[in-house]
Amino acid sequence: MKTLVIGANGRIGRQFCTLAAAAGLPVCAMLRDPDQAKHFEADGVDTVTGDLEGGFEHAFQRCEQVVFTAGSGPDTGADKTLLVDLHGAIRAIDLARDQGLGRFVMVSALRADEPLAGPENLRPYLAAKHAADSYLRHAGIEYVILKPGRLTDEPASGCIATDPESVGHLTISRGNVARSLLAVARNRALRNREYPLLDGEQPIDTVFA
Ligand SMILES: NC(=O)c1ccc[n+]([C@@H]2O[C@H](COP(=O)([O-])OP(=O)(O)OC[C@H]3O[C@@H](n4cnc5c(N)ncnc54)[C@H](OP(=O)(O)O)[C@@H]3O)[C@@H](O)[C@H]2O)c1
Repeated sequence: MKTLVIGANGRIGRQFCTLAAAAGLPVCAMLRDPDQAKHFEADGVDTVTGDLEGGFEHAFQRCEQVVFTAGSGPDTGADKTLLVDLHGAIRAIDLARDQGLGRFVMVSALRADEPLAGPENLRPYLAAKHAADSYLRHAGIEYVILKPGRLTDEPASGCIATDPESVGHLTISRGNVARSLLAVARNRALRNREYPLLDGEQPIDTVFA
């Protein structure tokens, strides 16, 4: 049984798939464009084509959990925020539950619980993440919600903080998010848990042990 990765071709998703393949965790990368498959085949990662704005019911076959790290990104408007970050996430949650998968691992965002406290231009995105997280908590499927701060492309340190008050910044490297996802994906005992994620001092494996 595999972990379905939605958003696999993204900057977190690609790192997660490479790490999972190296760790022997079977994954299936959901891609919007079949031409993206070459990158994953080089790592021995299975792929399936699917779009959160279209049909992707077929992607869940032979999968036991979902890692959702898709995002509409900062270069699109509120229409894509609604269709991908909110409605796409909700459809993925429903499909995972209805097809009998055991757990849904969501990449959310640090300030998702307080959209109006975020910068004005991020509020629609944070509201979409907030609504998707709320839906997941009551959807009838086990879940883990990771809430990274602002993402950077710094090298992964392998150490994080889950208490924003304990660090003097609001950032985390995409590499540390990918490593956190791997630790969560491998530990099936984690269920119905939520973690803010920032770069920090605690080794990732100890946080998710
Ligand atoms: N940016 C931040 O500071 C920040 C902070 C906290 C949380 N996050 C969250 O972090 C996650 C991703 O980060 P990232 O840096 O890896 O982003 P990214 O590089 O932009 O990757 C996003 C991925 O989502 C995919 N996607 C977009 N629309 C889709 C659709 N309709 N159907 C299926 N897949 C779709 C993209 O596909 P293509 O490759 O085909 O374009 C891409 O692979 C998101 O959940 C985001 O909300 C971001």
